[in-house]
Order: sequence, then structure tokens, then C-alpha cells
Amino acid sequence: MRLTHQAHEAVAGVLGEGGLALDATAGNGHDTRFLAEQVGASGHVWALDVQPAAIETTRNRLVEAGLGERVTLLCESHAHIRDQVTPPGERKLDAVMFNLGYLPGSDRTRTTGAVTTIPALEQSMEMLTSGGCLSLMVYRGHDGGDAEWNAIREWLTGSGHEWRIPVDPSDHKGPVLVLLTR
Ligand SMILES: C[S@@+](CC[C@H](N)C(=O)[O-])C[C@H]1O[C@@H](n2cnc3c(N)ncnc32)[C@H](O)[C@@H]1O
Repeated sequence: MRLTHQAHEAVAGVLGEGGLALDATAGNGHDTRFLAEQVGASGHVWALDVQPAAIETTRNRLVEAGLGERVTLLCESHAHIRDQVTPPGERKLDAVMFNLGYLPGSDRTRTTGAVTTIPALEQSMEMLTSGGCLSLMVYRGHDGGDAEWNAIREWLTGSGHEWRIPVDPSDHKGPVLVLLTR
């Protein structure tokens, strides 16, 4: 099974009708759409990306699928999750997805990087409900990919969170899926 499908399977295990979720890297909107389908009409999803083109593509994908109402789209860095993502009352997020790297079909130099990824992970874990799941897909093949992965590994080791890598990465440049739970 592809790693992206495994990420969706893990998230589907904790996210149902009425749930709250965050896509920290909206990109072309595939994960945002998946999250919006999972939460149903009574749930809500926040999706962030720093590139206006990514937000536009995601918006079009959601509108086409009739899911636009369930999602708050924000052209913002995930370094500001705590200020931008505002679940109602005392509620927390059931699921968070990160899909790191660059926007496929766009400028490959505009990638995620540890300087914002690590604070975003910290904030996401604080906002995750007990029993919730954070899926983190890391691509190491692009410039800076290794540095980002090394910083993530160091953060994971010292974080005190429960995490696992369900599939052994096949080679040292291949993608890695990390699943964190609370
Ligand atoms: C691999 S793509 C995401 C793919 C997406 N999940 C999908 O389903 O199509 C990574 C995205 O992260 C975005 N990104 C880079 N830095 C970011 C940041 N600081 N905050 C939020 N998004 C960022 C990029 O603009 C890019 O669109």
C-alpha cells in the first residue's frame, strides 16, 4: 500500500463524522479533501499553505466536490497554527496531517523547512486531543530534505510523544511516514 494511503488509513481510524482536523500543508488539496470527507457536514477542517496557488487549487478541488463549507482555507505559515486554528469551545483536533516538501507542479525551491516545521509540530501536538493522530509524511529527496528529516528525528526523540514509523524506509532518499498519537 502506498504511504499516502497508509497515512489516510491511520487518520480514518480516529476521524469521523463531526470531527475536527487540520491539514498543515494544503498543497494541491488531496489531503484536505480527504479530511473534509471524513468529518462530514457537521465537522470542520482547517487547511494552511504559504503559497496562494496551493490555496486556490485546494479551494477549487473542494468546491468541485461540494465540500467548501466544511473547510477554512488560510494562506498562512503553519508556524502560526496556534493563532490561526481555532476549534470551538474547549475542543481539540482529532487529526492533523503534514505532507512536507514542495508543491508538485510548482516551484521546487519553495519547500517546507525545519525552522517552521518543528514549531508547527509542537503546536499541533498541543492541540491534538487524547487518542488523536498526527500523520507526518517526509520527503528527503529535495534540497534541504535531509536537513529537515534530521531535525524532525531529533525532535521526535526528545519530544516525549508516542510515535512510530510503520514501514521501514526502503532507501535513504525515499519518503518516510511517521505516525504520532496522544
Ligand atoms: C508536498 S506539498 C503538500 C501536498 C498536499 N498535502 C496535497 O494533498 O496535495 C507541501 C506544501 O507545503 C507548503 N508549505 C511550505 N512551507 C509551508 C509553511 N511554512 N506553512 C504551510 N505550508 C507550507 C508548500 O507550499 C506546499 O504546497
